[in-house]
Amino acid sequence: MLEVLRAKGIYLYGRGGKKYIDLISGIAVSNLGHSNIKIQNAIRHQLKKYTHLMVYGEFVQSPQVRLAKALIKTLPNGFEQVFFVNSGSEAIEGALKLAKRANKRSKIVAFRDSYHGSSHGALSICGNEAFKAAFQPLLPNVHIHNYNDLSVLPHIDQQTTAVVVEPIQAESGLHLPNEGYLAALRQRCDEVGALLIFDEIQTGFGRTGRFWALEHSGVVPDVVVMAKAMGGGMPLGGFAASEKLLSLFKNDPVLGHISTYGGHPVSCAASLAALELLQSTKIFEEAEAKAQLFISLLKNDNIKAVRHKGLMMAVEFDSFDILKPLIDKAIEKGVLTDWFLFCSNSMRIAPPLTISTVEIKKCCKILNEAMQEVFAR
Ligand SMILES: Cc1ncc(COP(=O)(O)O)c(C=O)c1O
Repeated sequence: MLEVLRAKGIYLYGRGGKKYIDLISGIAVSNLGHSNIKIQNAIRHQLKKYTHLMVYGEFVQSPQVRLAKALIKTLPNGFEQVFFVNSGSEAIEGALKLAKRANKRSKIVAFRDSYHGSSHGALSICGNEAFKAAFQPLLPNVHIHNYNDLSVLPHIDQQTTAVVVEPIQAESGLHLPNEGYLAALRQRCDEVGALLIFDEIQTGFGRTGRFWALEHSGVVPDVVVMAKAMGGGMPLGGFAASEKLLSLFKNDPVLGHISTYGGHPVSCAASLAALELLQSTKIFEEAEAKAQLFISLLKNDNIKAVRHKGLMMAVEFDSFDILKPLIDKAIEKGVLTDWFLFCSNSMRIAPPLTISTVEIKKCCKILNEAMQEVFAR
């Protein structure tokens, strides 16, 4: 196990001055690299003013207000408010409760091999039974269907409160929606009055080449759930929706969703700095070209397929038994990769979006050498 003493840009520094290239970004968190100076300055600036106050509406906290306004500008028309929490799981919980509150139904439709978090509600809609088995019983009335399979449509019915879907499925080892699939879900949800909830926790904040992955399809959900890169390295999550929907949490009961630290001012300040940096540099617009460079340079007969959208990539091998020694060898050589929660034969490549072409060439050279050494055995 690596002990990381400090991190800067795409590099992690271990003991004895050993340097590692981070190709996972803390699982799609450090989109702007580690220890970004502008994010650090925003944190310092907020620390001098105040840290925690109270979040039940008693005080106006400018880091939250400014962040909410900036986030709304990134989202399609109809998104008017953001409810801030601390993590992705917590944001999923809030979104599920909001759907229940909106249409007073309980059936939830979600997808095989999706991961939405580890709290009880979020785990209930996880699409991997083995991952859930030890914690049953979880939420009842959760229906899991195959991603990209249109046979789900008749199962989205008048009893369905919400369909929760990732606009690009992450932990299944990267699966893109088929053309028209998300639109079909949207149409069916409209027909039966169910909410369409997009989990953009891993795909948001530029990871896939657009600020939000929903921009690739143009399909507009009712709720967008966010976290991970949102906090610029600080803990933060949120779910955005219309004012009409989110105001349902205001009464009957009042404070329908409570989170003591939700939207922590220091996290919000870091998040706003990250959002402004992403928008001013438009670094995410380079993600697709950078991914193509990875794809053109990574060469080995053992690579079975590469799935990707922007810098969210999965390089597939035959099995975990082949991949694991490769990951270990790459770490030995100073490149950090990973596999996926529900796809153990594919290598996760999700570097900070700030990675340069020179750095990509260096990574690919190391990974190619590692593949040659491991597969020559
Ligand atoms: C797509 C997706 N949804 C939800 C979550 C849960 O987020 P958190 O770990 O912040 O609770 C994750 C975390 O990996 C995720 O990848």
